[in-house]
Amino acid sequence: MNWLIHDYREKDLAEVVHLIDSTAELGQESVFSLAECISALTSRQPAVVAVHQGTPIGAALACVAGERGWVMRIAISSAWRGRGLASALLVELERRLVAARVSRIAYVLPEEDLLGEGLLNAGYTRQPAVAYFEKVEPHHGPAANLLEDLGARFLPSDLWAQVAGMEAEKDLIERRVVLPLAEPERAARHGVRPPRAITLFGPPGTGKTTFARGIAARLGWPFVELLPSRLADEGNLAAALRSAFARIAELERVLVFIDEVEEIAPVRSEPAQPGGLHGVTNELLKLIPGFREQDERLLVCATNSIRSLDPAFLRPGRFDYLIPIGTPDQAARAAIWSRYTEGRPDVDIPALVAASDLFTPADIEHAARVAAQASFERDLEAVGTGDRGRPGASTEDYLAAIAQSRPTVTPAMIDEFTADITAHARC
Ligand SMILES: Nc1ncnc2c1ncn2[C@@H]1O[C@H](COP(=O)(O)OP(=O)(O)O)[C@@H](O)[C@H]1O
Ligand SMILES: [Mg+2]
Repeated sequence: MNWLIHDYREKDLAEVVHLIDSTAELGQESVFSLAECISALTSRQPAVVAVHQGTPIGAALACVAGERGWVMRIAISSAWRGRGLASALLVELERRLVAARVSRIAYVLPEEDLLGEGLLNAGYTRQPAVAYFEKVEPHHGPAANLLEDLGARFLPSDLWAQVAGMEAEKDLIERRVVLPLAEPERAARHGVRPPRAITLFGPPGTGKTTFARGIAARLGWPFVELLPSRLADEGNLAAALRSAFARIAELERVLVFIDEVEEIAPVRSEPAQPGGLHGVTNELLKLIPGFREQDERLLVCATNSIRSLDPAFLRPGRFDYLIPIGTPDQAARAAIWSRYTEGRPDVDIPALVAASDLFTPADIEHAARVAAQASFERDLEAVGTGDRGRPGASTEDYLAAIAQSRPTVTPAMIDEFTADITAHARC
């Protein structure tokens, strides 16, 4: 077959969790929650991973309780279903279970699905008298429950590679942020202390959120976004922040993302603003030093308006780097256009680049969508006339979409951003 099956390794965690998470809607659930699966993986219970050309495409995991092994989950990426991969993974998993002195293997499926028949073929007997009862105790258990609690996401590792263009920013973030965190011992040999907190600033749509997610994906760390609006639901925002950071402190490794941080840490004007934001700014200021003391964690804040942040918040002791993320230059626009035109050779990329000065990646993504829609509608209208035309948007479609769009970023905003770089950037 076209895949390789190997034992689960620690560095597979993010990919395997992503597989489990992303295949849940495909009926590939089990009675074990994602949190339980993560907990089994991190406590080295038997698990195997199938890879095709270096990319994980399936995983099977189990846990052992005395002589009984429980198959917790077999997750197969959607493109690889129905090709016998589930059986192949099960066979390998069983081998590990037998080696762990298991004599009875159970697999409880939440409902009849495709796997049922496969299990009969694999020598399992369906136990018709078994009824599965479950009671969920509302307690805060170990880290795996915490991850679920905090809404942590494990992002696919190719996210970083999908950031098109923006080479200067990518390179800077890679050298200053990702590599010291990924190779802490090597960094320490050179006296480099891995960063604990960074702020990305720049106009809207330039890719700040994308970079934050990319860093988590690249490190294979869970991505936890703290949404002030959601925290505020818990009542007192400062107290909710404190409690979120306390839970985060229990995690082994994590990237914490706070978007639009100027909303929770604005310049402290006199008198205090309604809503007690001073209290929230003060709380965050107090929480960052504690956060910085632990290894394997990174706080990433993003803001469209660094000038409206409290200067105390931006002090060097709190944030290691304040990194500007601007609008893409010509080379970056070319890379982003190529991404969104899917590399179709008939599209005149230099023409699109020239016409889209000041466009952000978000603007380019939007214009590409408008052009694709125009092409689709033309195709629909052509039905019956026999004139099918070329599939996909043409250079003209893209140029028309660009002409219709107004870039988010104005020259005045660029001037402001340039001044902000001089006043605030630290990288
Ligand atoms: N370098 C890039 N290559 C391709 N698409 C990008 C890139 N940067 C951003 N995007 C896309 O642009 C949109 C806006 O990006 P986002 O990261 O949300 O911007 P910001 O957080 O700075 O407002 C997203 O849909 C994202 O996928
Ligand atoms: Mg954003």
